Amino acid sequence: MTPLLNISDLTVQYRLRKRATVAMDGVSLEIPVSGYTVGVVGESGSGKTTLGMGIMNMIEKPGEVVSGSVLFQGKEVLGLSDEMLRGYRWQQVAMVYQSAMNSLNPLSSALDHVVEVFLEHTQMSKAEASQEAIRLLSEVGIRPERARSFPHEFSGGMRQRIVIAMALALKPKILIADEPTSALDVVVQKQILRLLKREVAKNGLSLIFITHEIALLPGLVDNVVVMYKGQIVEQGPLATVIYSPKHPYTEMLVNSLLSMDSTRESLGKKVPESDDFVALGADACKFTNRCKYAFERCRVEKPLLLQTDGDRLVACHKYN
Ligand SMILES: Nc1ncnc2c1ncn2[C@@H]1O[C@H](COP(=O)(O)OP(=O)(O)O)[C@@H](O)[C@H]1O
Ligand code: SF4
Ligand SMILES: [Mg+2]
Repeated sequence: MTPLLNISDLTVQYRLRKRATVAMDGVSLEIPVSGYTVGVVGESGSGKTTLGMGIMNMIEKPGEVVSGSVLFQGKEVLGLSDEMLRGYRWQQVAMVYQSAMNSLNPLSSALDHVVEVFLEHTQMSKAEASQEAIRLLSEVGIRPERARSFPHEFSGGMRQRIVIAMALALKPKILIADEPTSALDVVVQKQILRLLKREVAKNGLSLIFITHEIALLPGLVDNVVVMYKGQIVEQGPLATVIYSPKHPYTEMLVNSLLSMDSTRESLGKKVPESDDFVALGADACKFTNRCKYAFERCRVEKPLLLQTDGDRLVACHKYN
């Protein structure tokens, strides 16, 4: 069966002056069917947002897709015309962009924001769009009497609900949520996660949930992809990966999750380089300088992402 979404070998770089940074390096990921849920976890700068933007075909200068493909229902997304992209974004795949709740139009009400999505992408009349927008806003927890309030009149959690309503408006098959709760306090964070979970289950949506906090994933997604410096280092069912992490970086993420003194913030921070830092060649494992298990081979050979057990993939010489 043709998978819903098939990303293969996607490589993206950002070119600033003469220097090019490879933000995503040969990433492959499949969303086989509707209802498939996956968390993408990794520290800041690991390429998570770039992956989401790549799926939306929204990589813009100074970024460029160097190679790879994104197939939605078997069709190449990276080659779509602007017109075809209009039918793909929002309608097939929608993204809750990182920090979107802070960039709502201050002059538009919650209702206006959702109405605009309908008017831009459907044949609905203004009256139909308003009616549908009010229904949708109330479904995500914004009561009709508040629908005409402006962004500054809402709390962060409520603004995030507006953004989620916009993303759900056209009933996409896949929802990409990029750190949708990172600016919110713990109680509100839980409410937003519950809302996402409910909407995903109700609409049979596939979810790609991007976060630097692995702690948010249990109960929300069934699968996980762990990214480090633009590459997937481990991938598999969430329960398997959390209970027996294999890649040393995943092990570290999971250990900090379990240790009593871990703070939520520390999970997203970059791992400190070890004292015996050595400049790495292009072929080395990118985790070498931070890995307590590193051995000679790690400095000279890039580990490939290979199946180790069951549905699990790991990129580490310890296992291959
Ligand atoms: N617009 C941009 N211009 C230059 N470099 C960028 C840009 N966006 C991302 N990058 C670089 O790409 C890498 C991955 O970034 P990103 O995908 O935003 O990671 P994450 O979402 O995991 O924090 C980082 O090294 C970042 O500096
Ligand atoms: S390949 Fe080597 S350095 Fe890289 S994660 Fe595995 S053991 Fe550590
Ligand atoms: Mg990001």
